[in-house]
Amino acid sequence: MSETKTTIELTDEFLLGNYGRFPVVFSRGEGGYIFDEEGNKVLDFATGIAVCSLGHCPPVMQKALTEQGGKLIHCSNLYHIREQAELGQFVVEKMLKRPGKVFFCNSGAEANDGLIKLARKRAYDKFGPETTKRDVVTCKQSFHGRTLGGIAATGQDKVKIGFDPLLPGFLHVPFNDPEALREAVSENTAAILFEPVQGEGGIHSASPEFMAMADQLREEYDLLLMFDEVQCGSGRTGDWCGWRTVLEHSDVSVEPDAVSWAKGFGGGFPIGAIWASDDCAGAMGPGTHGSTFGGTPLASAVSLAVLEEIESCGALANVKRQEARIREAVASWNCPLIESLRGVGLMLGFVLNKEAIARVPGFSDSGQTPALFVVNKVMEQKMLTVPAGADVVRWLPRLDVPDAEIDEALTVFRGVLDGLAAL
Ligand SMILES: Cc1ncc(COP(=O)(O)O)c(C=O)c1O
Repeated sequence: MSETKTTIELTDEFLLGNYGRFPVVFSRGEGGYIFDEEGNKVLDFATGIAVCSLGHCPPVMQKALTEQGGKLIHCSNLYHIREQAELGQFVVEKMLKRPGKVFFCNSGAEANDGLIKLARKRAYDKFGPETTKRDVVTCKQSFHGRTLGGIAATGQDKVKIGFDPLLPGFLHVPFNDPEALREAVSENTAAILFEPVQGEGGIHSASPEFMAMADQLREEYDLLLMFDEVQCGSGRTGDWCGWRTVLEHSDVSVEPDAVSWAKGFGGGFPIGAIWASDDCAGAMGPGTHGSTFGGTPLASAVSLAVLEEIESCGALANVKRQEARIREAVASWNCPLIESLRGVGLMLGFVLNKEAIARVPGFSDSGQTPALFVVNKVMEQKMLTVPAGADVVRWLPRLDVPDAEIDEALTVFRGVLDGLAAL
C-alpha cells in the first residue's frame, strides 16, 4: 500500500511551485470562520483576498448551487442563457445604473484583457485600421492580473521578469499624479485604466484630482476611461461602484466608459465580468471576443444569488457601519507599530511603522517584509489577514460581517501588535 502523504507533501510533489504558500491546509469554512485540517477555528479577514463576500458557504450560495446544479450547469454561448442575461440586467440596472452591455468571463485578469481588447477595437472602429491609437495608460504599483495582457498592464516590474516579449502599448504613470497622467496621454492613447482603490499595491484610493484629470483627458483625446474594480468592486467599498465611494466626499463626479470585476462578484464561485457603456459596447460585435466558460448558467445563477443577497441583507450599509466602528476603535489605540489606517469600506490597510517593526526582536532574522511578519504573527493567534505590498496589512472581512467578528478582530490584532511592541 502506498504511503499516505500530507497535503503539503502532495503539493510539493505534484503542483507547480508558483505560489508561496503558508504552511496550513484549510478544509472547511462557515460564515466568517475557516477551519484547518487539525480542526483549528480561524477568523477569516482575508476571505480569499476579497472573494468570499458573504463569508464561507453562505446558505444562498448553497441553494443556488444545488438548485441550478440540478437544472443546467453548462450551456454554450452559442445559445441564449437566461441566468446570464438576468445577471447582466442586475449589473446594468442595480450596480451601474447606466445603460451599457455586459460580458462574462472567469477571472479578473481575463476581464482586464477584455477591457484592453475593447479599447483597441473601439479605436480601430472609430479611427480606422491605420490608427495609432493603441496605447493603454495604467498606473505604477497597480495590479491587473497574470495573463500576458494583465502583466503588461500591471505597473510592477516583479510580475514581468522573464516573460519578455511583453504585449506592447502600455505606459505607467505614478498613481494620483495628475500632471504625469497628462504627460503620458497623447493621440496614441486608446484608454486610461486604473483601480479606483489599488489593492495589491498597498491600499491607495484614487484622489479626486487624479480622477478629474482622467475624465478631462478622456474628453480631450477621445479615449476610454476604464476602471479595474476586480478587488474594490462588488460592494467592498460600501457602494456597488468603488469609484463612487472614492469620490463620495468630493465635488468631483466621474463615470467610466468600462469596468471590470471578478473576486467578490461570485462570492467564491469563479466568474469575471466587464461592463461597457452603450457608447463603446458596439465595438465588441459577433466574433470579436468570447469564452467557453464565460457566464455559464451555474456561474451566473450563483453570482446573481450572491449579489442579490448583498443588496437585500443590507451588506452595503453594513460595510460603511463596520468601517466606522473599526476607524473609531483604531483611533483610540496608542500603538507604535501602526502608522495609519487607510482604504475605504471593508478594504482597509494598516500601514506599519517600519522603524518600530525593525526594533521588534526576531523581525530582522525572519527575512520577511514587515507586513508578512505581522500577518504571520496574527495567524498564530488564529486570524487571517493579507499583506498589501511590503508595509501594509489588509483587512478584507466578509461584507455582512457582524459586530462580534469585528470586535474579535480588533482584540486579536491589537493584542498581537501590543505584544510585539512590548518584546
Ligand atoms: C485589481 C485587480 N485586478 C485584477 C486581478 C486579477 O484577478 P484574477 O486573479 O482573478 O485574475 C486582481 C487580483 O488580485 C486585482 O486585485
